[in-house]
This record gives sequence, structure tokens and C-alpha cells, in this order.
Amino acid sequence: MRRTSFEELVERLRTVPRDRFPAACVELLSEPIDWAALARDRLASIPDGEFLMMTRRIFVEGVEPKVFLLHDEPGRFRIVLNHFDRSSFDRHWSAGRITPHYHHFDFSTRLIRGHYHHWLFENSGTLDRPELATWHRTRDLVGHVYFLPWDEFHCVLAPEHDTVSLQIRGPARSRPRRPELTVSDAELLAARDAAVKALLDVPPAESGVVPEFAHRWLAGATVG
Ligand SMILES: [Fe+2]
Repeated sequence: MRRTSFEELVERLRTVPRDRFPAACVELLSEPIDWAALARDRLASIPDGEFLMMTRRIFVEGVEPKVFLLHDEPGRFRIVLNHFDRSSFDRHWSAGRITPHYHHFDFSTRLIRGHYHHWLFENSGTLDRPELATWHRTRDLVGHVYFLPWDEFHCVLAPEHDTVSLQIRGPARSRPRRPELTVSDAELLAARDAAVKALLDVPPAESGVVPEFAHRWLAGATVG
């Protein structure tokens, strides 16, 4: 396992040709880098005011994971940390807020701690009026690296407490409606501190594993 600075990660992403961005992100996230230290050091180093401003641009209330913006390269990519708090997840689940959904961006992600169950759905309807059928269920583990196109419906279930993933998002493919946030600054700072804590004492990272389901979108990529 080697250490890489956050700045080096950003620089490497800047040099990736746009037409092979998904495969390149999966290759990069598959490297045996100390991802926990990289994400932790970056999250902990952002001054509070800047952290709050960045987080409020992407934070979504009423769902899990909690998302933290680590870097924004406008029009190109965003680097985001996802942190699953199990008790918060369970509250959202009980309230029926954890449902199949699609995102407004393609993304590649690596689990750097924990695990979760992951359901993927075929959609024979439209994005607005989906008709979904499960086509794959998997359990994604620490070290798993996968890509998901923006318009694929999926749902993450039963995360282990303190599951953390590092996500590289592509540019926005649609404009989501963003409800006004009610979360306080203190709550966001406490959520950040919990995410930083979850990234302490993470076992050394090995080369990533790309689950079988993700290969359908990575034709020609040299990933393990
Ligand atoms: Fe999702």
C-alpha cells in the first residue's frame, strides 16, 4: 500500500481523457493506495467555513449516506466522500425514505471501509415513471470498486455502521431539484467529525476488486 496526496489524485484525474473517464477512475480507485488516510486528511484539512459551503452544495437530507464534497472541478468531476451512519440509515429506512433511485451524474466508487448490500434494477419505463425489476443483488465489500451510469436505478441497503466510500462523480447529466436544507452548521460539522473518526484505524488497502455487475459498463478497461 502506498500513500498518495489528495493533490496528486486531483492532478491525475485532470489528465484523464474524457472518453475513458469511467474506466480510468475505476483503474485509479483500484490501486492499493492508503485511501482512508487520503480522504481523512483532506476532509480534516478543509477549514470549517469552506467545508460548510462545499457540503451545502451537495448534501441531501433524509437519506444515507451523508455526502461531503472534497473537491469540485467544475464541468469535469467532483470527489465526494460518503459516510453511512447505521442508526441514521435505519431511521430513514423505517420512514420509507430508502428507495430505488438514479443519480444526476455517472460515478465510480471504492468502498474504503465496511460493506453494504446493493440492488440494481432494470427499468422498462422512463426516469420519471419507472417500471423496475431487480436484475442483480450483490454485497459490496471493502476494496470493491465499481462504476454506475447516472440513469441506472439502484439502492444500497443494510450498510455496516461506519461504511465509507470514496466517489468520483462525472459532470451533471441533469439538473436535480434541490430542496432547501434545514440541517444546521453544527450538525454538518458533527457529521464531518464522525466521518473523519470512521477513517481512523482502517486496515491497509489492497488492490481493488471490480464486482461482476460493473463490467457491463467497462468494456475494454484493464481492471481486475
Ligand atoms: Fe445512490
